[in-house]
This record gives sequence, structure tokens and C-alpha cells, in this order.
Amino acid sequence: MPKLHPDLENREFWYKDITLIPNRLPDFERDEVDLTTNFTKNIILKTPFVSAPMDTVTEAEMAILMALTGGIGVIHYNFQTIDEQIKEVEKVKRFEAGFVFNPIVVSPENTIQDVYNISEKYGFFSMPITEDGTLNSKLVGIVTRRDVRYRKDMETKLSQVMTPRERLVVAKKSETVDRNDPLSADRILREHNLDTLPIINEEDKVVALVTDSDIRKTEKYSLATKNENKQLRTFIAVESRMALAKERIGKGSDAGVDGIVIDASVVFKEQLEIAKWTKENFPKLEVVLGNIGSAEIVERILKEASQYCDAFRLGMGPGAACITQQELGTGRAQASAVWDCSQAVKRLEPKYGFIPIIADGGIKIPDLIDTDIAKPGDITKALALGAQTVMMGSLLAGLDESPGQKEFDYEENRMVKKYRGMGSIEAMEKRGALRYGIEKMKIRIPEGKVIEVPYRGSGYDFIPQLIAGIKQSLQKQGFKNIKELQEEADIRPI
Ligand code: XMP
Repeated sequence: MPKLHPDLENREFWYKDITLIPNRLPDFERDEVDLTTNFTKNIILKTPFVSAPMDTVTEAEMAILMALTGGIGVIHYNFQTIDEQIKEVEKVKRFEAGFVFNPIVVSPENTIQDVYNISEKYGFFSMPITEDGTLNSKLVGIVTRRDVRYRKDMETKLSQVMTPRERLVVAKKSETVDRNDPLSADRILREHNLDTLPIINEEDKVVALVTDSDIRKTEKYSLATKNENKQLRTFIAVESRMALAKERIGKGSDAGVDGIVIDASVVFKEQLEIAKWTKENFPKLEVVLGNIGSAEIVERILKEASQYCDAFRLGMGPGAACITQQELGTGRAQASAVWDCSQAVKRLEPKYGFIPIIADGGIKIPDLIDTDIAKPGDITKALALGAQTVMMGSLLAGLDESPGQKEFDYEENRMVKKYRGMGSIEAMEKRGALRYGIEKMKIRIPEGKVIEVPYRGSGYDFIPQLIAGIKQSLQKQGFKNIKELQEEADIRPI
């Protein structure tokens, strides 16, 4: 049992109100700390991070980042159609670091100038050349930097400089992509000392490209969250209305999604029926219920639906774009909600079994101007209080991988990205009203706002920093893993 200082027992407290006391003597290094944890009953993560299902946070790009770095992304459902959301799932499922699907191709009639233009826009030089410049026609050659770099006449046609098909080394789709095996492509790249390798199907059409630099990158993702077919894992958010959720869940399952988050600002009775229906019809899908904020609700749900539920999402209005607590006077301080609910889960574990907790919202980087430094304190506190993972919105919304463009804020003199609560009027006008159960109501009370968050650059730099920071925090307290932290943390008021 972690030690919660008695002064905290009977009051509401936030992450900022507590500190973790280091009272063990560490005898190991930071990088020996292991952050392996349960996202749901059956899905293990090597990094305890979950990206929130919000339309300024998680679509395919974010879900891929999260899964590659050991966490998981939950794709939002604020699209006009179900198919748009499912397309994002498919992108994640098709992604295999190392393979570039749908590569840019050009035609023999294009010029060297065209290659320079494309490379300026996308940052690479190697392009397969097909008969008509689309992926629907046969491969006829390839152009790489080597072929164009000393050429002066920019109008020269690519047919004159390309390496033609008969001299090209290619790999077959059946032997690489279909086996989800970028290393087989890597062997061919090395054997022939190539920068780029086109992957073709039986009709000699290009289906993917493998580049030496991408392959080198895949070696970095040893933490990646994958299923048994080596595909990245991802979840989708679904409505808390049975009639709407059914179709989405069916299509999500067809696309290979790993589970669902039944999304509502406050857990809703119909969720229990959706969870039951999902387990009966798609037993492989993991089901997350929420949001929950008290031990009483934890107990009630466990009593009624423990066998249909694989994780609890926990948080009543602590999010950076939330205004529920101010507007409606209901909600909870997140740190005490996590403590209260995790204690209830532990107490009831002998009866209902283990169920992981996702601490959703309220994870902050204290100085938002200081965009370069990832300060992971709130995350460690959530874990110490009993959460297995944390779900984040605002912290991730400033990354390159979130939807939306970065902008310059002239007043604050910095780059920013937009982040909006799903209960903001702006998001509700799309479909977000469903989350708040008010889609048919004439009077809408917003429970969220639109804010700016600092632009934080690439998540592939940011997330590893955050991971290292959490490991450092555990190491300082003398804990080698999350389990030890949860068993022995010393939590005191500030
Ligand atoms: P952070 O603090 O990480 O929180 O930005 C992300 C979580 O905030 C929740 N969320 C909302 N809560 N009104 C609310 O009260 C809203 O409009 C809203 N939009 C998102 C959600 O749980 C998310 O994961």
C-alpha cells in the first residue's frame, strides 16, 4: 500500500497539491527503470501514455506516434461519417515503420525541376517512375538524388536520367509487406547497397517504398505496441448511444481496431449495455468505460458489468479545456479521484478481479512558455496514486502529429496550435454534442473551451524525453517499476 498522508485523507487534492517523498536509496540507473503497465485487462504497454480521443489530438498520425513509442492512441469520432474515422484506423493498421505506402511517383515525362519541387515540399529525392505517373500503372524506373545532383538543365526529362526497370532491384510484396517484415527489405537494401527499394505486386505496380533512412528509424522503436500480427494497436472512441455505437463498433472491428472507449463526460447507464453487446458480438475487442470519478460508481459498475469492462477511464472535469467544474459545479480534483477509485478497485479485486485505471486529464507542464522541456511530475503522481496509464490531451495537442496547423501568436510571440474541448460550442457544432448527451437539445451549455497550446515540435523527440523524465522520477524515489511505486510511494501534501 502506498502511504497517503492523513492530511490528505478527507479533502480534495490536485496533482499540484502533493509531492512524492524519496525515501529509498537507489542502487540502479535511470534507464533500468521499466514502465511496463496494463492499458486494459489484456493489453500491455511499455509506456503508460494514452492520447485522448479529441479532434485536436488523435487521428492516425498521433495514434502511430503513440503506438511506436510504447503507448496507445484513441481515435476521436468527431467526423461527419463513421467511414472517416475508420480510415484513420486503417492507416494505423497498415503502417509498418520502414514501409512507405502510397509513395509519391512521377512519370518519365516529368523533369528534373519537378523532382526538385517535390523534394522541397516533402524532403526526399527518391521517386519511383511509372508509365503514367500514378500508382495505377507499371513501374518503369526510379530517380534518386544521385541521378540529378550534377545536372544543369532542369528541363531534362526523367526518361533520360532514371535507372530503368531492367536495371532496378525490386522486392516482391508477397515476400515483404505481406509478411510485415521490413527486415527482409533491409537485407536487400544492404546486399545491393541501395538507398531506396520499390516493393511491387504481381502486376509490376508499386505498392510501397523502403528507404535506408526509414529502416534505421524502425530500429529505434523497440517499445512499440503491436498485436500478434505485428500491427500497431489503436482504439476508437464510440458514442454512448447503442443505436449509434453498434455500426461504428462493427466497422471498427472489421478494420482491426483493438478496442473501444465508450465516450461520455460522465459514465452513462447505456454504456453498460453497449459493453455487454460488444463483448457478446466482438469478444476480442477490449472495452473501456468512463468517465468515472468516485469509488461509489466504480463499485456499482463492477457489480453490474465487471465481466464486460477492461479498463476504467477516470476524470470528472480536470482537463485543460474543461469548464464543467466552473460552469456546473460538479466534478472532482483529479488526484483524489484517482486515489479514491484505485483504492476501491484494489479493495474489490478479490471479488471482481483486476481492472486497470486510466487517469484522464489534468496532466500539465507547469510552465507552458517553457516548451522544450517535458516535465513529467504529474504523470508520476497519477501512477503513484494508483493509475496504470494516463490519458493526455493538451500536452500532446502541440505536437506535429496532432491534427491542425501550427500558427504564430503575435501577442505571445511564439508558435502555437489550437486545442479544443469536445464540449466546446465549436466542437459540438460538428458532432461533439454526443459526448455530452445534448445533440437534440436546443439549449446547449458548453462544457469546454478553445485554447492555444505551445507548439512542441515532433513527438518523436518529445515523447522519449517524457519517458526519460518519468524513469528519472522513479529512479530518484528508488523504484524500478510502476508496481513498486504503487506499493510504496510516500504521498504528502505540499
Ligand atoms: P487534458 O488536461 O489532458 O485533458 O487536456 C484531456 C481530457 O479532457 C476531457 N475533455 C473535456 N472535458 N469538457 C470537459 O469537461 C470538454 O469540452 C472536454 N473535452 C475533453 C477528456 O476526458 C480528455 O481526455
